[in-house]
Amino acid sequence: MLLMLLVACGGGAASAPSTPAPAPPVAAPAPVAVGPDGPETIAVPPLASISTDPADIAAGEAVFTAKGCGACHKFGEKLVGPDLAGVTARRSPTWIERMVSEPEIMTKQDPVAKDLFRTLMVQMTKQGVPPEDLPKLIAFLKSKENAVAAAPAATAPPAAPAK
Ligand code: HEC
Repeated sequence: MLLMLLVACGGGAASAPSTPAPAPPVAAPAPVAVGPDGPETIAVPPLASISTDPADIAAGEAVFTAKGCGACHKFGEKLVGPDLAGVTARRSPTWIERMVSEPEIMTKQDPVAKDLFRTLMVQMTKQGVPPEDLPKLIAFLKSKENAVAAAPAATAPPAAPAK
């Protein structure tokens, strides 16, 4: 329903509505629009800026490891989930916080997450990251923003023979 609405909105010049629809003076019970930051119903810590403090980045890396994100994500390469290199450039910090907090709501309500799910056909699982750890996690993700450049020579490495 919402998707159809969004598609309709993005569909270019639509024919003018036949009934004049002046803006209602009181906020109508409009469907919750999902903006670029994801559904507002997912409460996450406000994040004005991303920390570049090495201590925060290290703490974020520890969260990434402890919560098992690396089972599905790498930097510079797609694994089960999307390549996370550059994710802070393509998504807003708040969107990322929401994706990490409530992936199962995101893939149902957020158009971007929905598309990822449709393409990958795997549902990211909720890892129970405490809200206060989210800004550190994002500091870590940001520190890996250019990690793509780290893997240009990724031709098939010789497979180590299993002993
Ligand atoms: C079970 C595998 C799995 C685990 C574990 C996992 N993810 Fe994901 N992640 C995915 C998948 C798959 C997607 C794409 C959305 C979907 O299909 O659910 C995704 C999407 C994302 C995105 C959005 C990527 C983009 O391109 O916009 C971010 C950010 C992310 N995950 C971060 C994390 C972090 C941080 C953790 C650890 C707390 C984590 N993920 C744990 C599978 C996983």
